[in-house]
Amino acid sequence: MKTRRELLTLMAAGAAVASTTRIWAQNSPEPAAIPDVTGPNSLRAHAEARDLLVGCAVVPEKLTGEPDYAALVASQCNILVPENAMKWPALRPAPGKFNFRGADTIIDFASAHGQKVRGHNLCWHEALPSWFAATVTKDNARQILAEHIRTVAGRYAGKLHSWDVVNEAIDPKSGLPDGLRKSPWLEFAGPDYIDLAFRTAREADPAALLTYNDYGIETDAPDETEKRAAVLALVRGMKKRGVPIDAIGIQSHLKAWNPEPGNGLRDFVRELRQIGLRVFITELDVDEKKLEGSDAERDSAIARIYRDYATMMVAEPNVDAILTWGITDRYTWLNGPKWARPDGKPQRCLPFFADYRPAPAFFALRDALDTRSAPHS
Ligand code: XIL
Repeated sequence: MKTRRELLTLMAAGAAVASTTRIWAQNSPEPAAIPDVTGPNSLRAHAEARDLLVGCAVVPEKLTGEPDYAALVASQCNILVPENAMKWPALRPAPGKFNFRGADTIIDFASAHGQKVRGHNLCWHEALPSWFAATVTKDNARQILAEHIRTVAGRYAGKLHSWDVVNEAIDPKSGLPDGLRKSPWLEFAGPDYIDLAFRTAREADPAALLTYNDYGIETDAPDETEKRAAVLALVRGMKKRGVPIDAIGIQSHLKAWNPEPGNGLRDFVRELRQIGLRVFITELDVDEKKLEGSDAERDSAIARIYRDYATMMVAEPNVDAILTWGITDRYTWLNGPKWARPDGKPQRCLPFFADYRPAPAFFALRDALDTRSAPHS
């Protein structure tokens, strides 16, 4: 019998352990059988066998400060993305001052564990640093944006799998032509700020796959259908103008009470393939705020969504990567004030429970990876 800590240490080392290890569940008088999901049983191994990337958003302080968390990330992922560590406030505490500590921690961890890294993100209307409002004007916005991209993408040139160059620039609800979101970047840098960001990123890091990333483009609901069309029009226009773009990131913050994504998204992915774009699922999680029922009932509803969604997406040959937004329910943005369950129960939205046991969603996701016909070009 192994303790939980011993098991996790073995996971970190990538060691093979017996297929089922009996350990004492926390706070439980009975021993609980926890299937071994390390090594060949991991998401990582199942993805690698099919030439897929699988991973999650990570927090640098936890990679260095929490061995259990680090072990889980090491065993399950072949690609990582910083949850917040590469956003402007983390990287650029003052207009002329950069701080790469957290971002470097993630890059170092990934390189020690043979993992790729996605950069997230170079340009977004949210997470603007506190100095932004008093500093950025119509006169200097383009220069500040380009300088940021040159500095950050330049520092990690050759080390990243991909960059989310622009995040969430489309919002048909803003009521502007082309579905562009009313944002400080649009206001200060002008409507071609997206082209500027992508061209600058390509110059700074010719090796990274340059990605446009957005949310609310997954289901067949009318507003999501409209937003998908606007994203498609944006990237078609970019291609026409010769702006370098390689991929679309579909965030995939799914809501358990909504209809599941379907034909609209599938068609979208196929149209992207026709214009030579790859697709990454960049921020998958399943918000269960409005679900009722026991933990077990909710877990199986959530797992079904993971299974259906991932199965549908990996059937498309230009879908290369699935990243969840976090790995354990212990740390998820969905427990923040805006998303928390009204009954105060923690969200059960990710592949691993808060105590790091694999959730039904883990097995659903792993089964879905197995449906990929391997390998694709
Ligand atoms: C979220 C993080 O998870 C939170 O910790 C942070 O407070 C706000 O941002 N779309 C994105 C991500 O592209 O960067 C967001 O991450 C979630 C929505």
